[in-house]
Parts: sequence; C-alpha cells; structure tokens
Amino acid sequence: MSTGTIIRPTPVPVTPAEPTLRRVAPPEPFTLVIFGATGDLTARKLLPALYGLWRRQFLPEDFAVIAVGRREKTDEGFRVDVRNAVSAFRDDLPATAEAWKSFLAHFSYHEADLAGTDGLRSLAGRVQALERATRLPGNRVFYLAVAPHFFAPTIAALDEAGLVRRNVERPWARVVIEKPFGHDLASARELDRYIETFLRPDQVYRIDHYLGKETVQNLLAVRFGNSVFEPLFRRELVEFIQITVSETAGMEGRRGAYYDRAGALRDMLQNHLLQLLALVTMDPPATLTAGDISDAKLKVLRTLVPPTGAEVERQVVRGQYGPGVIDGRAVRGYREEEGVSPNSSTETFVALRAEIASWRWAGVPLLLRTGKRLARRATEIEVQFKLPPLQLFQTVECEGDLCIESPGQPATLQFRIQPNEGISLSFSAKRPGMLMDLEPVCFDFNYQRLGRELPEAYERLLLDALRGDATLFPRSDELEASWKFVAPILEAWAAGPPPKFPNYAAGSWGPPEAQRLAEGRLGGWKCR
Ligand code: BG6
Repeated sequence: MSTGTIIRPTPVPVTPAEPTLRRVAPPEPFTLVIFGATGDLTARKLLPALYGLWRRQFLPEDFAVIAVGRREKTDEGFRVDVRNAVSAFRDDLPATAEAWKSFLAHFSYHEADLAGTDGLRSLAGRVQALERATRLPGNRVFYLAVAPHFFAPTIAALDEAGLVRRNVERPWARVVIEKPFGHDLASARELDRYIETFLRPDQVYRIDHYLGKETVQNLLAVRFGNSVFEPLFRRELVEFIQITVSETAGMEGRRGAYYDRAGALRDMLQNHLLQLLALVTMDPPATLTAGDISDAKLKVLRTLVPPTGAEVERQVVRGQYGPGVIDGRAVRGYREEEGVSPNSSTETFVALRAEIASWRWAGVPLLLRTGKRLARRATEIEVQFKLPPLQLFQTVECEGDLCIESPGQPATLQFRIQPNEGISLSFSAKRPGMLMDLEPVCFDFNYQRLGRELPEAYERLLLDALRGDATLFPRSDELEASWKFVAPILEAWAAGPPPKFPNYAAGSWGPPEAQRLAEGRLGGWKCR
C-alpha cells in the first residue's frame, strides 16, 4: 500500500568543473598599432570589429589605436575613413554624434615606409608620446594586416625601434599576424625561426579567422559538452566525414593579384579546412587552455596521412572556374579577373580524400572540398554514420522479376558553420501507418530561429589577442603539420604538366572529376 511518500530520484553527482567567467574581463589599457591601415581588411573587418567591441563595452576606457600606412593622411582624414568603414560594415549599431566623437578620439594615423631608412623609429616616438600624453601603460598589440612579404621586415623593424622586446614581459607587447603564414613548408618554417629571434612564442598570434566563428567554437562545445555525441566520433560508427567550404565569390576588389600566387590549397585548405577537420576529429583536450587544445589538434594534424605523388593523381582534384552564371548574373572566368594572369594555372577549387592514421580514425575516409564561384555559399561539416550491423528494416520492392533492396538511410550529423548556422541530426524513424517502414527525420538546431546574435569572428579574435588569450589561434607546430600535409600535393602539381584549365563553369559544383572522389559507398558529396 502506498504511504503517500514521494520517492524522488537521487540526483546524479555532477563532476564540478572549473567555474567559467560569466562576463569576459576587458583587456588592460592598451595601444593597438595597425599596419596596413588603408587596406581592405582594416576597413572591412578590423575597424568594424573594434567599434562592435567598444559599443558593447568589451574595451577598457583607456586605449589608443594608431593606424600605420604609406599614404599621406592626417589623423582627421583617417577618422573619416574609420567612420565610413564602420557605417558601411557595422550598420546594426547606430551611434549618436556624441558617441562617434568619443569613439573616433581614440584613433590617430601615422605615415611610415618600412623600406625607408628611418624604419619605424618615428613610429616609436609617436607611440611613446601618445602613451605619455594619454597615460597609457605601454601594453601594445601590433596587428600586421599587410601583404605576407612584409611580415618579417615589420617584425624586425619593430624590434629595431624598441617597440617589441623578447625579454620584457610587462608592459606586454604582442604581434598578430594575418594569413597566409608562409607560402609552403620551408618558408613557413623560415618565417617561424626568424620571428623567434625577436619574439617569444606567447607574443605571437597567428590568425585563422575560422576559429573565431561562433559555430566553429560550437564544434568543441557540442562534442565535449555532452556525453551523447562524443562517443559517436570514432571509426567503429562513422562511415565518413565531409567538409565543404564553397563560396560564390570570385576575385572581388584587388584580390586577384594575391590569390593568383596562392590558390585554393594554400588560401583555404591548408588553414581553414584543416583546422575544421582537426576540431571535428580531435580527442577531448585535457583542459580548455590554449596549450591543451593545440596539443589535441596537433595530434590529428600529425596523423593526417600526406598523399604520395601517385596518390595526388587519384585523391586530389583541382579546378579553375571559367565564365558562368551566379545567382542569375553572368560572371567572367578566373583568367579574365583583375590581377590574374591570362594563362594562369592557379587552382580556384580543390577537393581531396584523406585519412587519419590514428586508433580513433584509421580507415575512415575524409573528404575535403573548397572552391570559388561555386553554386552556393556554404560551410558545412557532415558526419555520416554507419548503417546498423543488422539490416532489420531493409525493404525489398519487386516489379515482376526485378527486385530492389533498399538498406535504409544512414544517420548523419551536420554542422552548418555558415550560413543558416546550426546543427542537425537526421536519422530514421517509423513512417506512420500500418507498415513497418522507416523514413528519415531530423532534429534541427538553428541559431536564427532562437533569435540569437552571433558575434563576428574578428571581434572575438581581436578581443582575445588584446586579453592575451591564445586559445583560438593556431600554434606554429599546427601550421607546420598542416604545411607538411599539403607539401606533396604542391610538389606533385609543380612537377606535372600544366592543368587543363578552366575546367568548371562558375555557378557549378566544380570539376566533374571531383564527383569521383565521393563515389561508391560515400554516396556523392552531400552539400549541394
Ligand atoms: C579568407 C580567404 O581567409 O577566407 C578568402 O583568404 C576567403 O579567399 C575567406 O574568401 C572566406 O571567409 P568567410 O569568413 O567569408 O568564409
């Protein structure tokens, strides 16, 4: 007989974790020096990011930004540029005249020519004078938003001018380096060694802006913040993993000149795609510190098997777009783009099939693909699971003597990095009715439906560099391992005859040969 006592389940003890900060502490007062002040990246990303951080009170009250460029410009002139850039690229946070005045007062402009005899000595004078006048403590971040051949000379000039010191910890000095970090394995190593003579490793922040994307960070959160997903990420259950980063953009603005020397393998795959791959396949890190996360990613990158010369032929497909139609608009081919050589053999598309030689992943095909001027803009990771070992629900349909067996749909977990950011899990469930038929259904998590604002990647990364948090910046050994993986591909391409380009039309899904990589049990590329 019931006595009326309610029996409550005993709460499951939860392992206490280090408490996380509820609110990000703002950086200490700082001086930010931006090299490449009049460039595209500064206007599109850095200035809007600074404004977003300032408006949302992530910055301290005291800070100064000195923009360095070769063009002649006054402080006032540069402040107009700042306002224009922010209005063009951050129009979601309108400001009053008062707010503009107070934001723009933080900015000044300094004209300097790195190649000149003065180097950065006049900049040093300017920085020190400004810091004295505004009582800034001398904490400095130098942001190198310049062409890669300026990285090494700028760092040497900073050292020469006494603006950075390897052996001084406080006030601190950090250097943020944009990509591409090196042109190949040898040049990346050389750059690293050179930089090390002037800076300690903890002073160097190498940007990969994909790591600043909210949905990329969510890969870690979903995998290691739940116990239901992590056990699925292994060879026993996963059939294959596909990563697609497809862009509809071509060579906008002045990009062609840089891109024609880089190509899709260096510009996207060596960095962004391999970082995505590392995050989706890595073991759980010991802690969430920068060092432990890098160690976990490095293990993946070191076990990624580089293709041999003969395998490059079979497992790597490159392409270049010809004229075509994107969103109903006719667009020109790559070779007709500004800054591009008319007989360029630079690839604007690359797809490859790889494997990780680790206990967790051996034998699981990894398909990576990226390209410009493709049919749709999408960055997606798809993990397809194996079918159950016993096909209990297999259906057979016959027409006369001809019978077709259908084995059912495999479950998939899809991370949509952009656009339409979210995660969906599709799996089989019973189709309502009298038959025991299965149909694919889907759990879908979508940030937009939640009405949540996603911070801009550059905002997050800039704030982290200012706060001295390197968690979302790839370490030099990660980049070296990534270069090692792509090195045989670059070598095989350089040694072979020039490719027959163009081989795909703008607005398509790339060269038809790329389909072959995903054929057979992989069932073709999923993101279309
Ligand atoms: C950059 C590449 O790193 O990433 C560009 O140099 C590319 O070629 C861009 O267009 C893509 O970034 P996102 O954030 O638009 O996906």
